[in-house]
Amino acid sequence: MNKLGKTLGVVLALLALVLVAAITFTIGWRPFIGPRTRPLTVGKFVSTPERLARGEYLVQHLCDCMGCHAEHDWTAHDAPILPNTLGAGQDMNLLKGFPGKVYAPNITPDIETGAGHWSDDQLARAIREGVSHDGRALFPFMPYLDFRHMSDEDLASVVVYLRSLPPVRKQQPTTQLIFPVNYLIRTVPEPLEAPVPEPDISTPEKRGKYLVTIAGCTDCHTPQDAHGQPLADMDLGGGFILDGPWGRVASANITPDQSGISYYDQALFTQAIRTGFVAARKLNQIMTWHAYRGMTDEDIVAMFAYLKTLKPVRHHVDNTETPTFCKVCRQTHGGGNQN
Ligand code: HEC
Ligand code: HEC
Repeated sequence: MNKLGKTLGVVLALLALVLVAAITFTIGWRPFIGPRTRPLTVGKFVSTPERLARGEYLVQHLCDCMGCHAEHDWTAHDAPILPNTLGAGQDMNLLKGFPGKVYAPNITPDIETGAGHWSDDQLARAIREGVSHDGRALFPFMPYLDFRHMSDEDLASVVVYLRSLPPVRKQQPTTQLIFPVNYLIRTVPEPLEAPVPEPDISTPEKRGKYLVTIAGCTDCHTPQDAHGQPLADMDLGGGFILDGPWGRVASANITPDQSGISYYDQALFTQAIRTGFVAARKLNQIMTWHAYRGMTDEDIVAMFAYLKTLKPVRHHVDNTETPTFCKVCRQTHGGGNQN
């Protein structure tokens, strides 16, 4: 009996060791102890007319914060923002396929239901480092992994502009993800250890790279596997499915391949971004053209210059064709059987 007890004890101890090793070398302990984060600072970003203007440009036209943090009429081609919802958040579950319930919070300065009581650094940390005002790891559908590359000055402008929004009283529920995603996302946030300087925008291509990065084009235009990881060597290769009140569409291949947009010239790209039409073909409204149309000519030219430098990805995606299974991205999309 005693001997059996001893053996059992040894076996259990060994099992515990194996479990500790398995966790340490696989997912790590983050899922259990919460996200990596840094202490908050008390500084305040000074509001200047330049920052207000730059912040409005970034929030409304480049980073499309309001695509998620405002309500829209998603059935119209220009997906207009509904009155009194600017910054007040959105029930994101209109997009199918989330591992749980996802809500974009109210980030207007309303004291009770918005960001009125949050410090500038609480906002700043959430935007670039993915930790909410109350210390939660944010679901990376909020594109903080892209915004991480936003310069300190651009970040300051975004926060200054958010502070200037009219407060809207609207309580959004808190995001509730299913197990184990609710634990696993705690491994995603990474504190920024160093300042993010102004980007190198000395050539249109370099300027375009910064813009495309913080605009989050890849979040929709790079296909993903079943775990939400971008597919290797498919950067901006299209085929990501967006199913909601706007219909069911796949994102386009915007690399300079024959199956992508190698036939585009600057005029066609500018037309797509400014009007939501490619010649006579209407782009679906989930493509963010209605926000991007407010970009400057210089920025639109820079974006196109950068897209032309991308590695061509061979992937035929065409929403005007019947959806069929695609063995390249393992989704069902228009023209999939031609891959
Ligand atoms: C693709 C949709 C999307 C875009 C674009 C987006 N957000 Fe979010 N944001 C979310 C969602 C969803 C959450 C909540 C995630 C969660 O609860 O886990 C969130 C959370 C936040 C939070 C955290 C609030 C808190 O509780 O502390 C802030 C701040 C924020 N977003 C600001 C911004 C700003 C500023 C931009 C643009 C620069 C932006 N977001 C762009 C979807 C988005
Ligand atoms: C919210 C998701 C989303 C984001 C973000 C997004 N796109 Fe798109 N985009 C789409 C979808 C979906 C389509 C396909 C629309 C259709 O076929 O009707 C598309 C189509 C396009 C097209 C038209 C290609 C063609 O078929 O001729 C261009 C060009 C484009 N996107 C460029 C961009 C650029 C540049 C960015 C970043 C600045 C961007 N998109 C960000 C979803 C998105």
